[in-house]
Amino acid sequence: MSYQADSAPKGLAKRLTEYGDPEFSLFLRRSFAKSMGFSAEDYDKPVIGIVNTFSEFNNCHRSLRELAESVKRGVWQSGGLPLEFPTISLGEIFLNPSSMMIRNLMSMDVEVMLGSQPMDGAVLLGGCDKTMPALLMGAASAGIPAIAVVAGPMLTGSFQGERLGACTDCRRYWAAYRRQEIDRPIVDQIEGQLSITSGTCAVMGTASTMACLTEALGMSLPLSASIPAVYSDRMRNAEDSGKQIMKAIELGLTPQKIMTEQAFLNALRVLLAIGGSTNAIIHLTAIAGRLGIRLELDTLNEMSDETPVLVDLKPSGEHYMEDFHRAGGLPVVLNELKTMLDLDAVSINGLTLGQNLDCVEYPDWQSVIKKTREPLQPQGALAVLRGSLCPDGAIIKRSAASSDLLKVKGRAVVFENLQDLHQRIDDPDLDVEPNDILVLKNAGPVGAPGMPEAGYLPIPRKLEGVKDMVRISDARMSGTAFGTIVVHISPEAAVGGPLALVQNGDIIDMDVEKRKLDLLLNDAEWKRRRDDLKLNSPVAPRGYEWLYRKHVQQAHFGADFDFMRHESFQE
Ligand code: FES
Repeated sequence: MSYQADSAPKGLAKRLTEYGDPEFSLFLRRSFAKSMGFSAEDYDKPVIGIVNTFSEFNNCHRSLRELAESVKRGVWQSGGLPLEFPTISLGEIFLNPSSMMIRNLMSMDVEVMLGSQPMDGAVLLGGCDKTMPALLMGAASAGIPAIAVVAGPMLTGSFQGERLGACTDCRRYWAAYRRQEIDRPIVDQIEGQLSITSGTCAVMGTASTMACLTEALGMSLPLSASIPAVYSDRMRNAEDSGKQIMKAIELGLTPQKIMTEQAFLNALRVLLAIGGSTNAIIHLTAIAGRLGIRLELDTLNEMSDETPVLVDLKPSGEHYMEDFHRAGGLPVVLNELKTMLDLDAVSINGLTLGQNLDCVEYPDWQSVIKKTREPLQPQGALAVLRGSLCPDGAIIKRSAASSDLLKVKGRAVVFENLQDLHQRIDDPDLDVEPNDILVLKNAGPVGAPGMPEAGYLPIPRKLEGVKDMVRISDARMSGTAFGTIVVHISPEAAVGGPLALVQNGDIIDMDVEKRKLDLLLNDAEWKRRRDDLKLNSPVAPRGYEWLYRKHVQQAHFGADFDFMRHESFQE
């Protein structure tokens, strides 16, 4: 073994610790690495970093230790040295104020550790909502070959003969409980049936959406998005991914070569066709932003008009992720969308999307994935609204909305912030009617902070029997939620967006078909309110929250930090 510094170092010789003497650095590193106990020849192999987001605070990632072992098998079989390491893990239900606020921190952790440790390639183990976006953001910035392996969805439970899955059914039953249609003992029984295995939420929520989009981007192996967490196929997929990262290194397949503009446009198309989560727009924009690619909301609108919803999964439809997998998973959807996709986009397996779809056929025996000519819905699941209330855009998931609420003119019932919402939503004296529009302010990236999934405002208890209302906010909503909910209003209220000016009793005009969302005020009133507006921008005295509030961007820029976006976006 030579300790001479190589001009293109590999494996453990990469990214040497600085002592001013590279030969000494390598000698020291190898001698310390010997304490790991591998055979001598292993220390000359390409090193594969396995980014493991296992955490006991993340139930969705309970199986990741086992998956990491499967990945290692694949790496060993292909002549690499696998070294597993932890990063921040974001368990959606276990974080305050919200996982979204920590997504950017996790992405920085991933980027820095991929870029600082000696490795030739990486396998990204994630799944729960914000983890895969953060992993891809970090990998995009780090620039080394990387392949994603998701935890996979949970299996469904059952209650009195009905299938249940996190978390559309959590919300459905909780709403029924609030309407006093079911009592507490029933809720307690249901609580034990919603998340019965390891894995991510069982519907087309944010985690499943991001798993599908990761596959659509080409960053994971075909069919990998939907394999349930507890299937043995999930372990084989992890092992195959361990083998594939070794080939990707040989082919020089960095994230930049896979996540091209064409790949992002393909992913946007898929997002619309699968009835995916609104959150995915923010995440895709943020990942693209790390690569210097600008995703425009208007592009989504253009695609939405011509892209049918093909996947019949909750919250837009009826089925669950395990059904989607049995029906053939994402390759069937991609094949149906073939004429609308860029088939030359290259995947992590070295093949183009078109080549990957060569052997895919439509499975006639199933009804979960529809044909393009007989879609679940003729137009895409998501629409971008613009107007005087949201000059930089707002999002509605029309596939999960009530069709009779897509064109409305209603009276605003305003909640100034989350605390105000909590205090007054069930007040018997709240002045609210079923046709009113509930408005929540100050729940955006800066305001809350971190855009919590508070856009699914509860229906006021006094409106007994009402199942849906138009709800508008600068917050996000869970990908598992349903209803006529407008989110991501940009700019947000906390930075002086028009949402800050809305008052109780104002008339809001929404026409989803025309993509319009307006606050109906005359010019003089706009000016008066604008002049009177006193921004009380929240600040944090120190720490990560200080950094976050100071540098987070608005939703239409992906709510990433300004200083983390690609250098071409830096002023
Ligand atoms: Fe982890 Fe839903 S809570 S994916």
